[in-house]
Amino acid sequence: MQFEKPKMNIKAVIFDLDGVLVNTDEFHYQAWKELADELGIPFDRNINERLRGVSRMESLEVILEQSAKNFTQQEKMLLTDKKNERYRALLNDLSADDVLPGVISFINNLNRINIKMAIGSSSKNAPLILEKTSLDSLFDVVIDGNQISRSKPHPEVFLKAAQQLGEKPEACLVVEDADAGVEAALRAGMRVLAVGAAASNPKVHFAASNLIEFIGQIPKNSFKSKHII
Ligand code: BG6
Ligand code: MG
Repeated sequence: MQFEKPKMNIKAVIFDLDGVLVNTDEFHYQAWKELADELGIPFDRNINERLRGVSRMESLEVILEQSAKNFTQQEKMLLTDKKNERYRALLNDLSADDVLPGVISFINNLNRINIKMAIGSSSKNAPLILEKTSLDSLFDVVIDGNQISRSKPHPEVFLKAAQQLGEKPEACLVVEDADAGVEAALRAGMRVLAVGAAASNPKVHFAASNLIEFIGQIPKNSFKSKHII
C-alpha cells in the first residue's frame, strides 16, 4: 500500500453508517428487492451497488431505469414510503450485535488518542439505527439525511460534519463503503479509508476489507498521536 506522506496528521474521523458501522446495507437491498419484484422490475446485487450512499429517491430512480413504465412524482413517493416501511420493519430486531467487526475497537482506540468522531450518512433512518445499536453516544457530531439537501457524491454531508467538529477538511479521514461516498469525501478534500464494497476503488488513500484488517495496517504517525493501538 502507498501513502502520500509519512505524516498525515488526521484529527477527526467521519464514518458513513450503512455498510461501515452496521450491516444495514443488506436490509436496504432486501427491502428494495421485495419492491422491485412486486413491480416486476429486474433488480439484482449488481444494480444494488449503485444505490450505496445515495438517497432513497435517487435509489428508486436507479431501479426505475429498468422499467418501461413512467411513474408520476406521487407514485414515486408512495414507492419510497413502501420501501422505507419494509426497511424499518427489518430494522426492528437491530441491536448492538449487528455492529460490524472491528468498529468498537477502532472507535475505542480513536477515543484514547482524542480523535474527534462524527457520522456522515445519507440516511434519514440514522438516528433510529444509532439508538438501536447503542452507537449514538460515541459520536461528537451526527450529520444524516435529515440535515442535508444534496446526497453523496455531493460533499455536503462531510463538509457539514467537519464544520461542526471544528476541523478543516484536510484534517479529516472519511470511512466509506460506497463509491458515491468516496467521491463525496474526495470532493470535500478529505482522506478516505474504503472498506467492503469500495475497497477496490483506486482513488482512496487506505483500503481494507473491514476495520479489523485496517487496525492491523495503520501506518505510524498517521494520526495526531503517534500510537493508535
Ligand atoms: C445510505 C445508504 O446510507 O442511505 C443508501 O447507503 C440509502 O443505500 C441512503 O438509500 C438513504 O437511506 P434512508 O434510510 O434514508 O432510506
Ligand atoms: Mg454506506
